[in-house]
Amino acid sequence: MATDVRPVSPADDIAEVLIDAAQIQRKVAELGARIADDLRGRDPVFVSILKGALPFLADLMRQVPIRLSLDFLEVSSYGSSTESSGVVRILKDLAQPIEDRHVLVVEDVLDTGFTLRYVLEHLAQQKPASIRLCTLLDKPARRIVPIDIDYRGFEIPDRFVVGYGLDYGERYRNLPFIGVLKPEVYTRG
Ligand code: IMP
Ligand code: MG
Repeated sequence: MATDVRPVSPADDIAEVLIDAAQIQRKVAELGARIADDLRGRDPVFVSILKGALPFLADLMRQVPIRLSLDFLEVSSYGSSTESSGVVRILKDLAQPIEDRHVLVVEDVLDTGFTLRYVLEHLAQQKPASIRLCTLLDKPARRIVPIDIDYRGFEIPDRFVVGYGLDYGERYRNLPFIGVLKPEVYTRG
């Protein structure tokens, strides 16, 4: 019988917490208040990018007490599990038209910018009234494609992070904080 040596809790694989749950919630409330002020009366559609932005969207929308609706895009970026390649593919497209709507794109992390460039161009083709971008995390040191950010949660250093929606090999999304994995996790295979 094979013995699984993986720890029972994903938190056991974390070397360091970069942003704890309380810090995240304070920032989400701050961003939500700004977004509500800017988009009140405009009936915006929040377009979230699956799957990483899901916890952020769920918390953020509850801090934006205005009339709004939700839609989802799922994209995959070819590459390794820690590097995106620039080749982006849409796995799930929007359910509703966004023509003449005010769109707020809700993303987990802006890294090279390849994914968002593709997503923003894809949305712009559908002639929305406006497009704004809200990203929880920004890694400016990694940027290849310049992207304007309207609402930024945290600027973080060039480190691969997991938790609060962010994954490594589809794991760790359910951690309530954002942290860095122990080096042995990457060699465990
Ligand atoms: P970009 O296309 O390089 O900007 O990468 C954006 C996507 O890569 C994000 O939506 C994430 O899915 C993933 N990504 C980038 N950096 C990280 C990270 O530190 N942890 C987990 N996923 C990341
Ligand atoms: Mg990912």
